[in-house]
Amino acid sequence: MKPYTLIVAATKTLGIGIGGGLPWRLPKDMAFFKHVTTLIPTNSPEHLQNVVIMGRVTWESIPPKFRPLAGRFNIVISRNPDYDLQGAPNTVLVDSLEKALSLVDDERHGRVFVIGGAHMYRLAMGEKHCSHILMTRIESNIECDTFFPAINDQEFHRASHQELETYVEQVVPQGIQTHKDLEYEFLLYVRS
Ligand SMILES: NC(=O)c1ccc[n+]([C@@H]2O[C@H](COP(=O)([O-])OP(=O)(O)OC[C@H]3O[C@@H](n4cnc5c(N)ncnc54)[C@H](OP(=O)(O)O)[C@@H]3O)[C@@H](O)[C@H]2O)c1
Repeated sequence: MKPYTLIVAATKTLGIGIGGGLPWRLPKDMAFFKHVTTLIPTNSPEHLQNVVIMGRVTWESIPPKFRPLAGRFNIVISRNPDYDLQGAPNTVLVDSLEKALSLVDDERHGRVFVIGGAHMYRLAMGEKHCSHILMTRIESNIECDTFFPAINDQEFHRASHQELETYVEQVVPQGIQTHKDLEYEFLLYVRS
């Protein structure tokens, strides 16, 4: 099985969502998410496409005009086999994370990302194939009703900023960034 990365934006108390949506609007984080999940690393065949795996609630949280996430193979997980993807191209429905990962094909797919929400992160983080966690850490406390699982520091360590930039193949602003009244930081955790 191919290793995969969790990508998340979370507050200090690991809040990630409220009312089925995101509790904040951070344009630079959205641009970072798009860059990272679309990027095919140097020296990989150009025809590859990355895979984004998400829970059904996260799928529905993406505004219809932005889904499926363009340029990426979208996999939606639901227990409902009749869930209607409304004909979304380049998108499939499966009923487990295992099935989602089994669809990954080295000939066609590059990196694999689990993009949320909390249910998917919980299923995915404990597996040894979960190799990286890209976290945009929001320093402010913002009310949330959905939470990212605690990162076990026996299993993951925080990588250096250089490692983060190498992984995402671009310059990443270092340290605390500010957008309006929000402070945030781009972090990478790697399985030890
Ligand atoms: N801050 C971030 O980076 C970030 C990223 C992504 C999402 N979010 C937020 O997180 C929230 C959504 O998270 P969530 O945990 O509520 O929902 P979710 O993980 O996106 O989706 C949950 C759904 O996945 C399906 N599911 C869950 N466990 C399953 C299993 N073991 N097998 C098969 N299917 C399973 C079920 O779909 P069915 O009910 O259809 O069976 C369940 O309702 C939203 O507020 C969203 O905005 C935040």
